[in-house]
Amino acid sequence: MLAIIGGTGLTELEDLRVNKRVIVRTPYGEPSQPLIFGEICGGEVIFLARHGSGHTIPPHEVNYRANIYALHLQGVTEIAAVATVGGIHQELSSGMIALPHQIIDYTHGRQNTYYDGISNPVKHIDFTEPYCNKLRAKIAQAASEIDEEVINYGVYAATQGPRLETAAEIDRLERDGATMVGMTGMPEAALARELGISYAAICPVANYAAGRGDSLHAINYEDVVLNLNQTLVRVRNIIGQLMTQHYCPVDTK
Ligand code: HPA
Repeated sequence: MLAIIGGTGLTELEDLRVNKRVIVRTPYGEPSQPLIFGEICGGEVIFLARHGSGHTIPPHEVNYRANIYALHLQGVTEIAAVATVGGIHQELSSGMIALPHQIIDYTHGRQNTYYDGISNPVKHIDFTEPYCNKLRAKIAQAASEIDEEVINYGVYAATQGPRLETAAEIDRLERDGATMVGMTGMPEAALARELGISYAAICPVANYAAGRGDSLHAINYEDVVLNLNQTLVRVRNIIGQLMTQHYCPVDTK
């Protein structure tokens, strides 16, 4: 079963026919909100808003372990995670949508594994390719079917937040090879891998990162969130097409 994790600005999916909301408890605590079970075009999907339904949980306080484990308990095998980013590379201006293929993790102090030697024995998962290429390809295909442009690569730098970065920090991330920056990509992707869940990210670009383009001297995050809404309409369309093409019973297509 597919799950969609919604990020900033995406606290619900309008196209979703909601069947039930389920409070799930996990050994790691409670997820950000009750899981929303529903259907898009007859295909089953679970939706979870990462920051909670009222967007009250900041990136560093999201209980990533509970979120991913709760989905795992429901039999989720694939996650398409929407995660807003700032564009570092010039081509990632506001309004673009990227499907990153790599991650660099700069977060700290987050509960980032199930294999902590306490609840489970230590284990070192392979993370050479952090995103599922098959799921990325399905998302890219869905986008192309409805003529939505996506950039099907990119290196996601996961920063700690909640503050935005300095221009010098963005310079450093760029030297490291990052092309976009966000605060929620990790440990979410690694936790999904630990549980054997295929994971891909859909990253709407909300702004140029600090010191880039029109963010040369400052970023007004309120403006950024306003701009994001139009891009999120396109993200929803891509998810709708993804469901129609790949997750719906044939007779409902
Ligand atoms: N930095 C980090 N996270 C973000 C940004 C940014 O510029 N924009 C949206 N999420």
